[in-house]
Amino acid sequence: MRPGRVMMKRDAMIYGHFIEHFHRQIYGGVYDPNSPFAGGDGLRTDVLEAMKKIRVPVLRWPGGCFVSSYDWKKAVGPKRTPVFDKAWRVEEPNTFGTDEYIAMCRKIGCEPYICTNAGTGTAQEMSDWVEYCNLENEGEFAKWRIANGHAQPYGVKYWSIGNENYGWWELGAKSSDEWCRLATEAAKLMVHVDPDAELSAAALTDIDWNVKLLRHCGPWLKWISIHRYWNLAPNENVLANYEQTMAYTDDLDTDIAKVRGLLTAMGLDKQIKIAFDEWNLRGWHHPNVHTIRQGRTKDEYVTPRDKNDINSDYTMADAVFTACFLNTLNRNADIVGMANFAPIANTRGCIYTHEGGIVLRSTYHVFDLYVNYLGDEILDGWMDSPETMTAGRLGGGEAVVPVLDVVFTRRSEDGVLAVAAVNKHASEARSLTLTLEGGAQAKAYRVITVNGESTESYNDVGMEQVTLAQGEWMAADGEVCVTLAPHSVNVIQIK
Ligand code: AHR
Repeated sequence: MRPGRVMMKRDAMIYGHFIEHFHRQIYGGVYDPNSPFAGGDGLRTDVLEAMKKIRVPVLRWPGGCFVSSYDWKKAVGPKRTPVFDKAWRVEEPNTFGTDEYIAMCRKIGCEPYICTNAGTGTAQEMSDWVEYCNLENEGEFAKWRIANGHAQPYGVKYWSIGNENYGWWELGAKSSDEWCRLATEAAKLMVHVDPDAELSAAALTDIDWNVKLLRHCGPWLKWISIHRYWNLAPNENVLANYEQTMAYTDDLDTDIAKVRGLLTAMGLDKQIKIAFDEWNLRGWHHPNVHTIRQGRTKDEYVTPRDKNDINSDYTMADAVFTACFLNTLNRNADIVGMANFAPIANTRGCIYTHEGGIVLRSTYHVFDLYVNYLGDEILDGWMDSPETMTAGRLGGGEAVVPVLDVVFTRRSEDGVLAVAAVNKHASEARSLTLTLEGGAQAKAYRVITVNGESTESYNDVGMEQVTLAQGEWMAADGEVCVTLAPHSVNVIQIK
């Protein structure tokens, strides 16, 4: 590695998160007024503390599919109107709305990032929301916010126009022609309300959709939003095992590369960054909703959502995959400025809530490791003779993937070097020798590791098999040679 050669600096927002009005993420998750852990505002203090520990930089809300038929106006003010949530087909009480969300972000110390309804919503309604949040006192919506007890504008900087409006499953889905028109007019209105608003718009890796969006709406955008879940399980809760999860790591940067290429080709790569604002190894389980034939009974389409809550499903496979994708985000930090783990609380999230407290799932510890121990400057570095392994895919076939996934960084605040090193091998340790080029000498090092006894280790109520362990500083005489345990996520700090 070359400590003296900084390739780029990552934005802390690549460690962002997402929370949706789905199942127990909001109600019964972070917002649970009846919980003994809830403060006067109904927010669970144990969840907030856990979010603060991983220094959540930005929190995207309120959806996700939920938002594409959401009327934000029914969820502000003294009178909240319960509505039928047509996306997830449950009652939305609207007791948690914009004001509660902003208050939560203030308590966490994170940036709000509001995704607007471009499904059934209009450009007018999207821009009214910006008025409510960001105008001082001009007009009915800013005055409404003041009347609701919030005199100061919220200054919400990040706004997304729509969510996956390209998808047949999305309420109020759009064609690429419809989308470029709506996104442009919504962007115009929103920026007329607040010229400092940084706008994103729903996109994917489809050239036609993205070219039309960027040709028409590109001048108004600072971000382009893409999503990915690798182990999709909406109808059948079939989850990839460890080996099948490793196979997914052969396809971590394809989406980024495609969108980067298009932004570059259109001369927009210096103006627009990628917001990978929904990602997770595992897609959410919600059968009989993203289907033509809708579930008829709650047991067909609501109760099965509880299967997302099975903590034993979130093992070292999830932790290792999450670390590999965070490495990918760091390597692409010049074009990816934000990413949002989907979601942060319950469902497939890194924090699980129950009446007696919270469970920090394996993925939580990976965020703790990366946010609190890895550097913000990405250094030049390479692996001599990288080894590969074969991994069988879910559904058949095989992938060939590197055994180790390594990113070299430095902390700009104190110059400490920090190398993220993931050993994907299920059963074998690997040694890693770190050589510093350019005359730098390692004097001391320590290894911080997220791991469990086996690939199947997980955390649950009253049981913790996956932990973050901070090693002691050890003397080094130039090179640093460490042993990476099987299925382990490590940061080697060097000074
Ligand atoms: O499965 C959950 C959904 O995944 C989110 O609501 C949506 O944004 C994505 O399709």
